[in-house]
Amino acid sequence: MSILVTGASAGFGASISRTLVQAGYQVIGAARRLTKLEQLSQELGESFLPLQMDVTDKQSVDKALASLSREWAQIDLLVNNAGLALGMETAQEANFADWETMIQTNILGLTYVTHQILPQMVARNAGYIINLGSTAGSWPYKGGNVYGASKAFVRQFSLNLRTDLAGTRIRVTNIAPGLCGETEFSNIRFRGDDTQAAAVYDKTCYLKPEDIANTVLWLYQTPAHMNVNHIEIMPVSQTFAGLSVARDLA
Ligand SMILES: NC(=O)c1ccc[n+]([C@@H]2O[C@H](COP(=O)([O-])OP(=O)(O)OC[C@H]3O[C@@H](n4cnc5c(N)ncnc54)[C@H](OP(=O)(O)O)[C@@H]3O)[C@@H](O)[C@H]2O)c1
Repeated sequence: MSILVTGASAGFGASISRTLVQAGYQVIGAARRLTKLEQLSQELGESFLPLQMDVTDKQSVDKALASLSREWAQIDLLVNNAGLALGMETAQEANFADWETMIQTNILGLTYVTHQILPQMVARNAGYIINLGSTAGSWPYKGGNVYGASKAFVRQFSLNLRTDLAGTRIRVTNIAPGLCGETEFSNIRFRGDDTQAAAVYDKTCYLKPEDIANTVLWLYQTPAHMNVNHIEIMPVSQTFAGLSVARDLA
């Protein structure tokens, strides 16, 4: 039995892969950047299999999964982690191509992979799907428009999977992290502006990828009769802001 982690070339996915291999599991790490995956493979050894895959391209997903040998092809845990945010402009100022990429990656990509893997889990009546949502899927913030909406999709899709899988032993969890540093997330969001990316975490005690990786390991090792539907995790330093009210609008 294997574990498939998408977005394994960086951030959470690399950390999740590392933690799961160290815990004794056999992990397939998927992403577009094969060299990054191969570096991880050198570190983790034979229990880690690099798999080049672009989740936005259905053919790429299908081809990559079809290439798995019998030894690797049975997936007991799917971690749908590949995802991204692009830009923080308001909806009225946003670049539509960024919206398309976020929808293609966070929504379509996640569904391509899930739709491919789900039948084998149902056939075995066993398996676990962990989706990486975000606090942005529940809590609106300025500039979060399509990114937050894509993560709301992930949260609701996770719950709807639970409903469709009623009567099976397959488990589904949506993990919704808040502010988490030491990943490429903000560097990608701000298109390589590393100063702007670093400012997001300045003087904050953010979550670390290992916190998310340890959560994945804990979830996977919970008793088989137990399903955590949704788990929201923030650093202590992050909390809620009030509703905003515009003055003098009338
Ligand atoms: N960091 C945070 O604060 C935070 C908070 C809440 C939720 N999240 C979510 O957690 C997940 C991981 O985020 P992260 O912080 O670890 O980001 P990251 O460091 O930027 O890693 C993102 C991963 O996704 C992969 N990816 C992106 N587009 C892909 C594509 N088209 N096909 C295949 N893989 C693709 C990237 O690999 P390649 O570029 O090599 O393809 C990379 O491995 C995302 O879904 C993100 O939305 C992050």
